This record gives sequence, C-alpha cells and structure tokens, in this order.
Amino acid sequence: MSLLWHIFLAVGDTIICCPPTFSLYTSVTTLCGAYVLEVPRTADYEVDVEGILEALTPETKMIILCSPNNPTGNPVSEADVLALLETGRIVVVDEAYVEFSDQPGGFAHLVLQYSNLVVLRTFSKWAGLAGLRIGYGLFPEWIGAYMKRAQCPFEVNVAGHIAAIETLKDLDYVLGNVRKVVRERDHVYDVLASQPYLEPIPSQGNFILAHVSNEEVEIRQVRTTLEANGILLRYFHHPYLHDFLRVTVGLPEHTDRLAQALAKVMV
Ligand SMILES: Cc1ncc(COP(=O)(O)O)c(C=O)c1O
Repeated sequence: MSLLWHIFLAVGDTIICCPPTFSLYTSVTTLCGAYVLEVPRTADYEVDVEGILEALTPETKMIILCSPNNPTGNPVSEADVLALLETGRIVVVDEAYVEFSDQPGGFAHLVLQYSNLVVLRTFSKWAGLAGLRIGYGLFPEWIGAYMKRAQCPFEVNVAGHIAAIETLKDLDYVLGNVRKVVRERDHVYDVLASQPYLEPIPSQGNFILAHVSNEEVEIRQVRTTLEANGILLRYFHHPYLHDFLRVTVGLPEHTDRLAQALAKVMV
C-alpha cells in the first residue's frame, strides 16, 4: 500500500477516503506530504458517491475504499465502484477482509477492464499470517510496471514467502477456518443484538462493530466490565466512533465468555 501511495502522491496532492474507515490510509497519505479529503459515509455506512464527486479537485489523485469496510463490516456496492471509476482517478479497493464476505472474489474481475482500478489483498486475516507481512495486489499493467520499478527487491521476507506458499498448498484447511469464522460471526451477532444496550451492524468481515445505544450505559462501563472478565475489544478515539466497540470473531467458547461478560454490564 505504502509503495502505491509513494508512487502516485506528491506533496500537495489529495486522496479521498470515507470515514469511519481504516486509519492507516490517513497516516500513509500524510507521510507522502499529501492530504486526505474525508467524505463521511451515509447514516447507513454506505459510501457517499455524490459527496465524493463534489469533493474532487484537480489535485485528487486517488480514491480509497475498503470493502468490506473496517470497522463497519459492510461491502462497497459494484455500482458505487463503477461510478467512482468513471472519475478517472485511481480507485483503490482494500479487500483485506474480502475472503469472509459473500463475494470472496471482490472486485478482482474488474481490474482487467479498468486501467484505474487497484485491488489490495493480504494474507494477514483469512490465512492468519499477520506479522509475516505478506500480501498482494491486482494492478492494471501500467501501474504494476511502476510498482516493479519502485519496489525494494527485499520487500517480502522468506518466512512470509514460505507461509504464503504453504497456505496455498492447503487451501481446503485454511478456507475451512474461514467458513468457521463466518458461521461463528452469526453467533457473535446474536449475542451482541440480544443485549438491550448494543446495536450491532451486520458484517461481512471477521469482526462486528456495535453501537452502545442505551443512554443508561456508557462505553466506559462496558469496557471496564469486559476487561475485568479478561476480554479486550477494540475501542476508538475517532469522533465518529466514540460510542462503538468492535468484536473480532473467535472460537465458540470465546463468544460464550463474551456473552457472559456482556450480561453483567447492566446488573
Ligand atoms: C482494512 C485493512 N487493510 C489492511 C490492513 C493491514 O494488512 P497487512 O497486515 O497486510 O498490512 C488491515 C489490518 O488491520 C486492515 O484492517
């Protein structure tokens, strides 16, 4: 990702991103001396295509979308991606969680048709290789050529390389794990939805975002109770997300422990 950003962003350029979304897009953009134009998602967390079209300036070089989006868990629609491709800007779709979604092929099928579409993928989530720093991208040829010219020849370490190859040799096993996560996601959703103070958002990722929606319950209270029960969740400092928590889907016994702890919050 950072290589792509460094190739296409010069000081003073802008990219458009759609918060709430993955915070790294902003950090990498800032490191390039470029600026992020934030076009917030709509009330139902969809990408605001009209808003993006209005925000475009001659300096806007890229539009970054995350699908399924971290942390809201919803995918971007193909109609929205197609509309944004029409702007001629480089549209980057980060598909870090696509393997957990109903459309695990994501937008790969469009890359051959559009010279301004990039799809980014990682082995970190579905294959559990986070930390080994191994991922890949689908690029139009002209962008791929720039990437090859600009990349450091030692970008991928041997451990990550071997782990990725072994993963591909045993796809049945790894995709079986993905299916288990997808099944368990329904269980986590039901547990969250059954709490009177939580509103979970349906997710296509391996996590679920939930809004603490009851005026009598503060997120601090939820966090303290869960941490007292040995459960760490993801909380956010972002203004859009200060009343939200994100749960990563684990094993069925983890969900059971979460359910027990959540039930203690309002007693
Ligand atoms: C949306 C998204 N993209 C990319 C990444 C990072 O992927 P990698 O481990 O391949 O750097 C993450 C990690 O949390 C993520 O949530």
